[in-house]
Amino acid sequence: MDIQEIFKNNQDWVNEKLNLDKDYFTKLASGQSPEILYIGCSDSRVTAEELMGVGPGDVFVHRNIANMVSNIDLASMSVVNYAVSILKVNHVVVCGHYYCGGVKAAMESTDLGILNPWLRNIRDVYRLHKEELNAIQDEDKKYKRLVELNVQEQCVNILKTADVQIAYKERGITVHGWVFDISTGKLIDLNIDFDKVLKDIMEIYHLD
Ligand code: CO
Repeated sequence: MDIQEIFKNNQDWVNEKLNLDKDYFTKLASGQSPEILYIGCSDSRVTAEELMGVGPGDVFVHRNIANMVSNIDLASMSVVNYAVSILKVNHVVVCGHYYCGGVKAAMESTDLGILNPWLRNIRDVYRLHKEELNAIQDEDKKYKRLVELNVQEQCVNILKTADVQIAYKERGITVHGWVFDISTGKLIDLNIDFDKVLKDIMEIYHLD
C-alpha cells in the first residue's frame, strides 16, 4: 500500500462528508457522546466501525491483541473507566473473532517474548474451561470455542470493574459478548446470560 494514497483517500472522505453537510466536522469537533464501548482485537481484518456500519462519534473503541481486558493493563482499564464513568456509555461490547492469531499463539509452546505474559491470560481461560475444551475432538472447533470462551471471560473481567458495577446499579449498563467470523463476515452475538454471570461473580468480586 502506498502511504501517499492514504492522504488522497482522506481528502476524498473529507470532501464526501462536506458535500453532505458543510458543518460536519464542526459538529464532530463539538464533542462526543457514544452509546457503546467496543473492545476488539487489533487484527487488520476486524475493522470495528466498518463491520458494524457505524460512523464517527458512534462508538468508543479500544483494540489490542486478542481483545483482552486485564485488570493490570492501564490502557484497557483507563478506557473502561473513561467510557463507562465519564462518557456514560450504556453498552460494553467485547468482540473476538475466529482465526485470531493471538488466541492461537497462546496455545502454542513458542516463546513469544513480551507477548508471553499478555497471552498467558488466554491459557487461564483454557484452564477454567479445560473439561469442555478437551472434550472437543476437532482442533478447528476447539480453537473457535476458545475464541468464544475468551470473549466470555473478558466480559466477566469487565463486570469485575468497579466502574461497571456502579453503572449497572445506577443505569443498568449491559455487557455483550460477540464474535466476528472472518470467513463469512458475520457478527455473532454469543447471547451470554450476564445477569446470571453477574450474580455468580458478585458473590466474590462485589464492591459496596
Ligand atoms: Co485476533
